[in-house]
Amino acid sequence: MRIPSFISKLKAPLGVAAASVFMTGCAVFKSAPQSTFDAKGPVALDQLNLFYLTLWVVAFIFVVVASVLLYAVIRFRARPGDKDEDIPAQTHGNPVLEIGVIAVSVLLLVIIAVPTVRSAIYIYTVPEGEEVLEITATGYQWWWTFEYPDLGVVTGNEMWIPVDTNIKINLRTQDVIHSFWVPKLAGKVDMIPNRNNWMWLRADEEGMFYGQCAEFCGESHANMLFRVISASAEDFDAWVERQNSPAREPAEQESLELAGRQLFQTKGCVQCHNIDGIGGGMLGPDLTHFGERYTVAAGLLPSTRENLHRWIIDPESIKPGNLMTEGILEQNLTTEDVDRLVAYLKSLDLRENQSR
Ligand code: CUA
Repeated sequence: MRIPSFISKLKAPLGVAAASVFMTGCAVFKSAPQSTFDAKGPVALDQLNLFYLTLWVVAFIFVVVASVLLYAVIRFRARPGDKDEDIPAQTHGNPVLEIGVIAVSVLLLVIIAVPTVRSAIYIYTVPEGEEVLEITATGYQWWWTFEYPDLGVVTGNEMWIPVDTNIKINLRTQDVIHSFWVPKLAGKVDMIPNRNNWMWLRADEEGMFYGQCAEFCGESHANMLFRVISASAEDFDAWVERQNSPAREPAEQESLELAGRQLFQTKGCVQCHNIDGIGGGMLGPDLTHFGERYTVAAGLLPSTRENLHRWIIDPESIKPGNLMTEGILEQNLTTEDVDRLVAYLKSLDLRENQSR
């Protein structure tokens, strides 16, 4: 069968369109850790529903306009042998059609606008009469602190929340503009210097959710991740209790860990990182209970001994531009030194029966 020439001309654009649909497919998979199509809390669900409503309205407009356009292109196309004067009958002005199109457009905009305004109010109103936990999240180039003012907890890069509880998050930044985003729990909100933005969210199920800085903030912006751990009330309370305890001290027989503790103090780590009981600076994440963390380098890598070793000996290769690189270069750490530091950091875990 011969393909009409106007269709064969469309082959390239149709191919590009098909390819882009195929490529965006991966992000649509619900299993993707940062998929917004897999809402796990009321705020994300509200935003997802608004997205779907808008999608259906614009899909309707697309189908109607494209059908009319396609009809006109096929029905009135030039045919071989047509002469210039063989153009279709020309008309101008049709009040019923014009007013009708305006009325339908207004109606469609109202269908989108009313739920949008309702949604905007919903996501800026923490539900009243229910328990609220307040957390202050601060963005740094390129990591996060999470403070729990009512619980006395300060931690980095992994934010624990109790499941089924409304969380109000104050959004702050220590340097440039960042954006706080946990795709499965709520849409992104910027952290802007000298501006007290906030958001609320709730996780409807237990689990670990991926967070990501969503505003370009320097060369390692894409490496600025975090995790939200939604835990049962019991597990959350136990976590708070551990967080409020001093750091675990290595036992006498843990010689590697003890040597690592010594290095932590003498090799300058302590100038930027705090460990309760040892003290330290606040330029980098608090490491008091580092051994409990699931990730290293702000959500970038699973916290295995190998990754921690890589991170300490060559942070630049993992997170270009980070502040730790220079400090590490000055210290001339041997591989054995790094092993000791890794052993110590992994031992900072108050949970019982952990394989460290
Ligand atoms: Cu912080 Cu992008």
